[in-house]
Amino acid sequence: MRSLPVFKVLNLNADWPMRGQFAVIFCRNVVIYFDEPTRERLWGRLADKLESGGFLYVGHSEKVANPRQCGLEQVAPTIYRKAR
Ligand SMILES: C[S@@+](CC[C@H](N)C(=O)[O-])C[C@H]1O[C@@H](n2cnc3c(N)ncnc32)[C@H](O)[C@@H]1O
Repeated sequence: MRSLPVFKVLNLNADWPMRGQFAVIFCRNVVIYFDEPTRERLWGRLADKLESGGFLYVGHSEKVANPRQCGLEQVAPTIYRKAR
């Protein structure tokens, strides 16, 4: 298990090099610092990177403004699931 994680620098507001989709994304306490249009765009991009049924974890002071618009449903205060 220890050999599986890969750590890399990623600018959320630039192009992303990841090709695949993810079962879970933790993006906590970062998006809150961006303006509203940037937040909206990022939630959509993160949702696109989730596989069906995958989970997005955000910070306790963050909220996806229009989860359904990006195919997410809120399942707990800081957890969203991508629709199947
Ligand atoms: C308050 S810290 C939160 C760190 C961590 N996610 C946590 O919850 O403890 C905000 C982080 O956002 C990062 N950050 C700011 N702008 C970013 C961007 N455009 N892309 C990726 N990370 C960014 C900063 O480097 C900083 O590490």
